[in-house]
This record gives sequence, structure tokens and C-alpha cells, in this order.
Amino acid sequence: MAQPGRHAPFQPCLTAMHLVTSRTLATRRRILGQLAAAGAFSSVSGLFAEALTVTAKLTEGPYYPANTPFNNIPLDKDNDLVLLNDGLTPATGLVTHLAGRVLDRNGKPVRGALVEIWHADHHGEYIQSTTAVRNPKSDPNFAGFGQFLTGKDGAYRFRTIKAGLYRGRTRHIHAAVTLPGEKIRTCTQLFWDEPSYDLNGKLWAQQNDNDGVLGGVRDAVQRAALIRKFTKAAGAAGDEESTVWDIVMGSAAMEPSYPNTPGGELVVPGEAVGSGSSKSRWKIAVPAYPGYAYEVYANPTHGTLGYAALPFALTVEGKVDRNITVAEKEGTLELYVDKPSVKGAYLVGYRVPGANLGTPTGRGMGPGGGGGRPPGGEVSELLLGRDPF
Ligand SMILES: [Fe+2]
Repeated sequence: MAQPGRHAPFQPCLTAMHLVTSRTLATRRRILGQLAAAGAFSSVSGLFAEALTVTAKLTEGPYYPANTPFNNIPLDKDNDLVLLNDGLTPATGLVTHLAGRVLDRNGKPVRGALVEIWHADHHGEYIQSTTAVRNPKSDPNFAGFGQFLTGKDGAYRFRTIKAGLYRGRTRHIHAAVTLPGEKIRTCTQLFWDEPSYDLNGKLWAQQNDNDGVLGGVRDAVQRAALIRKFTKAAGAAGDEESTVWDIVMGSAAMEPSYPNTPGGELVVPGEAVGSGSSKSRWKIAVPAYPGYAYEVYANPTHGTLGYAALPFALTVEGKVDRNITVAEKEGTLELYVDKPSVKGAYLVGYRVPGANLGTPTGRGMGPGGGGGRPPGGEVSELLLGRDPF
């Protein structure tokens, strides 16, 4: 697997070429170590080829939450889909952990990438709705949609439930990645390496072998990379399952930059401030730059689940009515939240100018997504099931 013969040309002398290739080898060894630690690849042969296999792009489908005239991106868009907002009742279904990294085709982790997932609930219902409210048939405790902004290691993670089945498709999770500096999300889908059974234990009509979307992936390596075994989650109580899935982007990521601060996030202590009433608020001050978008999370580690995006106000007395803001000028940006942090500090995520903000405006469509979703009638027609994705 290691193809040792590939190392021989790099031995002879300390030329400029030697320095470059040695560094390349070191990088590959480092990547190999990281991948081995993560258990992310079943085969490492691709690491020694010119590039990794790019994750196949698949249709976005009609159920991305924003794809309605109402652009229903939910307020709860953190990486824990099992709990909705501050709810204590978990979603119905088998708790499932999905983790991995966003890599470029050379194996370099992409930081500042927005990873989004959405899928059907235990009974096969999406939260997506063509009205102003989410699908009333969907599990009221299921978030149905989540986002994760990668740090410098490119890692993402979600806690969700096993995706439910709906007519015309085998079991799958939709995923999208928006590279930093881009507005277009690249869409794909993840499949289970197991037969699909309905809730009564009956074999489902659509399996991986006859799923119309997965069937569109002709390349065997690309196809295999979309299908993952889900196994019992280590250390988890009960029957929770997990899998690791790296997403390899075909185009080069624009490296996000933030003066004097590596990574894609800022860890900032909050200062308790009065709001003019008995209610307390916490002020979070960050150095801001024009065009960067900022969000606040309660868990500064960003590595554990259960952190939640905190809505905030832009003034101490202002209404707490937003969860993202774009700085207009350079200087200190003050954000005011109603909730204390979990671990003594807040995490402030930022996105570079021009990045997908995951908000109702400026939605882009991933390649294969078929362009902009027209409003009105055609969406309704899709929801009738004529065009299942
Ligand atoms: Fe779907």
C-alpha cells in the first residue's frame, strides 16, 4: 500500500527540488497519520496518487430548507439535530453521529468551510415546507437541518438520527459544502452500507443498487466513497451509531484570512452588562473587519456537541433578534447575548467576505442542483412526489 519505490527519487542531494519534494513527502506522511487516526479512509492508496478522489456531486433535491418562497432556514441550525432549540425531548429515531473532514483534492484540510446537512425524520418527513411554517407532519423535536463551520483541521461533526425513508429513495443524508469565499454550495449525499428496511422491518423498495440518484454515480471509487458503514458509536450509551465521512472538494479553497488570528473562530470572554432592567446581558467584543460575518456560540471548544448558536443584539438595549451580522467597518464589534457561556467564554465564528451566510438571502445552488428553485407551482409538484430526491 505504501509504494516504497516512490520514495527513491527523493534521496540523492539537497537541491531545491529535493527540499520541495521532501516537504511534500512529509506532508503526505502527516496526512496519512491524520487519516489513520481518524479511520477516515478504507484505502490509503489514493494519498500517493496525484490527488484524492473528489466527492461526487449529487443533486441538492427539493428539500433544502431555504428552497421555498419563504426561505425557511430554521433559527436552530447548529450541529445537533437531535434536539430542537432549547427542547429537552430528543427527536425520535436512532441517534447517529456523523463526523469527518473537508479536504481539498491534495488532502489539505479546508478551514472556514460551511458544512450543511439535512435529511428526513424517523418517519420520512423533511422539515422543509412551502408555507411560512415548517412541515407540520415532521417530528416536532427534530431539527432536520444543521450547519458546521470547519476550523483549521477541516473537521466537522453532527449528531442526528438515522435518516428516515420516503417514497422513491433509499436511506440517505443530504450534505452541502460551501468553500470559504464562495457563495455556491456543492451538494452531495451519504448512503448507508446496509439494506434499507421500513419501520415494520420490511425490505424497502429502493436500495443502494436501484436508487436513482446514487445510480447516477458511474465511477466505482466515487460511488464507494458515498456509502459508509454505520457502526455502534464508541463510548455511547444504548444503540447509537456513528460513521466517518471525509468530503473531498474538487476546486481549490480560498484560504480565509483574519488578521492576527489563525483558524476560523474567535474565543472571547463575555462581560456581564446591565440592560437597563433587571435582566442581565453579556457583551462580547471582537475585532471586526468589513464584510466579515459573525455568529456567536455558547460552547467555545467547538469540538463537543450540544453547543448552540446564540441570538444576539447589536446594542446593550437592542432587541435580541439575529444570529448573524456582517461588519460594515474595521474596529470593535460588540454583540450582546442573553445567555451566559457554557465554559466561561463564547465562540465567535466568522465567515470571509462573500461566503455563503446560510441565511434566507443570496441562496446559491450546488452543481447538480438544477439551478434556482422556481417559486410556487413547481415546488408543489415536486412535493407531491413526482420527482423524489
Ligand atoms: Fe432526500
